[in-house]
Amino acid sequence: MQELEIQTAHGPSQVLVGRGLLADATRLVDECALPRPRSVVSNTTVGPLYGRVLATALALERCTELPDGEEHKVWPQVQGLCTEWLDQGLHRSDAVIAIGGGVVTDTVGFASSIYMRGVRWIAAPTTLLAMVDASVGGKTGVNLEHGKNLIGTFWQPSLVLVDVDTLETLPERERRAGMAEVIKSAWIGDRDLLDLIDPSRPISDPLWEELVMRTIQVKARIVEEDEREAGLRKALNLGHSLGHALEAATGYKRFLHGEAVAWGMRAVAAIAAERGLLANPWRRQLEAAIDRLEPLPPVVGMAPDRILHHLASDKKSDDSGVAWVLPSDGGVVLDQRVSIEEVQDVLETLGSSAAV
Ligand SMILES: NC(=O)c1ccc[n+]([C@@H]2O[C@H](COP(=O)([O-])OP(=O)(O)OC[C@H]3O[C@@H](n4cnc5c(N)ncnc54)[C@H](O)[C@@H]3O)[C@@H](O)[C@H]2O)c1
Ligand SMILES: [Zn+2]
Repeated sequence: MQELEIQTAHGPSQVLVGRGLLADATRLVDECALPRPRSVVSNTTVGPLYGRVLATALALERCTELPDGEEHKVWPQVQGLCTEWLDQGLHRSDAVIAIGGGVVTDTVGFASSIYMRGVRWIAAPTTLLAMVDASVGGKTGVNLEHGKNLIGTFWQPSLVLVDVDTLETLPERERRAGMAEVIKSAWIGDRDLLDLIDPSRPISDPLWEELVMRTIQVKARIVEEDEREAGLRKALNLGHSLGHALEAATGYKRFLHGEAVAWGMRAVAAIAAERGLLANPWRRQLEAAIDRLEPLPPVVGMAPDRILHHLASDKKSDDSGVAWVLPSDGGVVLDQRVSIEEVQDVLETLGSSAAV
């Protein structure tokens, strides 16, 4: 098992990466001097696979199972959880644990941050994306009709329990999509990791623990410097400006988030190269890693206008447009303005290079 402590404004957040951790949850929670969780929350897919086992390991009677899917990452689920915890008599000194992908961790993290003005929470991520991204850094929240993650808090989990064995049941496509976030972090802070990108590597391979932990380390270092995204943390949006627009323009149906981010990273690599920010060998290294995520759903049949419209309504934009993150030889450059013409050019290139 590998351990990492993230220093946050509200104290340390402990990260444990290993195998068989869920069965050992009580001991691990005790060793971190945390109260034993009184509520396990998962969803209808992960609950039967792991949530119920975790509840049993924690000597709890049941696992609460939220409906599965991004469309259920909404306020009524948060309200329902808080009501359930009240009925259960959970106090401010108690803790809860979320087990599942980013949807479950974002929802439960948010509920824990407002229940009685905040109770401690533990994240047990079971998707690659949630392991390396959603459960690290303390952003919680749910979606509104106006857009994604529009209400939320910064509320650090006291403990992140990453049991790599759970990846065994994760659908291959989800695994590849999560790998896009690994590539993103590797690019920003651990380029050697790019050579280890191989989504089809058997889960039993010990390299998975290393890959997950090293990716978490990159994000952890950034979050320690800039917990509330005043500057440096924006680097983690690499590939996300166009990625979000592609997701929105296709009604969140064609691409998984990571797949759209993969296209977004291809796009910014092209724009950065065109601007002379990114030399060819570096661009090739980034693109070679993204190639290993193929097949990606294609960027074809999309009106550039729709994509530009969604770019304009990006949450991270201000009056002067979207602040893009571009890759550079040494890392990334923040707060870049990208013209409509550059976006149109790059969309043409992506469309013509689309596989499948
Ligand atoms: N808080 C943050 O900093 C942050 C960062 C990135 C993403 N997010 C959020 O994360 C969400 C996406 O997370 P996600 O990609 O994990 O999606 P998800 O939570 O919807 O999980 C994907 C699918 O995999 C299933 N699943 C999860 N673990 C499994 C396992 N081990 N075996 C079999 N099936 C499993 C889920 O039930 C679901 O159907 C988005 O809502 C996004 O906004 C948050
Ligand atoms: Zn992302």
